Amino acid sequence: MIYIGDENYWNNKFYDRGSKVLEPDQMLVMNLEHLTKGRVLDLACGDGRNSLFLMENGFDVTGVDFSQEALMRLERFSDSKGYDVSTFQRDLTHKEALKNLGVFDCIIVNHYRLSEQIIKDIPNVLKSKGTLLISGFSKKHKTDDKIKDSDLIRFEDFRVIKDKLELIKEIETEDARGSFITYIFKCI
Ligand SMILES: C[S@@+](CC[C@H](N)C(=O)[O-])C[C@H]1O[C@@H](n2cnc3c(N)ncnc32)[C@H](O)[C@@H]1O
Repeated sequence: MIYIGDENYWNNKFYDRGSKVLEPDQMLVMNLEHLTKGRVLDLACGDGRNSLFLMENGFDVTGVDFSQEALMRLERFSDSKGYDVSTFQRDLTHKEALKNLGVFDCIIVNHYRLSEQIIKDIPNVLKSKGTLLISGFSKKHKTDDKIKDSDLIRFEDFRVIKDKLELIKEIETEDARGSFITYIFKCI
């Protein structure tokens, strides 16, 4: 399953980005209170706008992405601010992508749709009472050549671990970019 583009597409996109990091996602900023302090795994972290925000707020962050270009940018931003981020280049379409990363207090996924295999693995890497915050294009988003149906996040995606996660908040938003959904789960 490809999310918007392949590794080349994302490497080029991050290579072409300016020298500044983008602002953190508002859904993360507004829901920070739901994240237990400790270790956070930022899946499909990109160049780290959210990872950097979390480190600024005292979290210990591990970022995973398949784009080497994105991870290099995240490490550069992190070094320049005196933070210490851990990064792993992993392809999240591989079923063992979460292997040997450790166990986390929180997992965030912002603007990426996880595969069923990875969703099934989440309870193995998230502590009991840990938070999973997922945010991205919702099923109401109008698809086109760029954002395809397979990129839309649905509540049914999480049915495979419904006995292990409890939904504590669901937020639907719309803006000029489209329709978005945020789910916040607690691991039982
Ligand atoms: C829209 S960006 C979101 C980046 C970041 N989470 C944010 O909110 O700024 C999508 C990210 O997913 C990553 N990605 C796409 N497919 C992936 C895959 N199969 N494995 C790992 N990362 C992937 C891209 O490299 C990119 O960084």
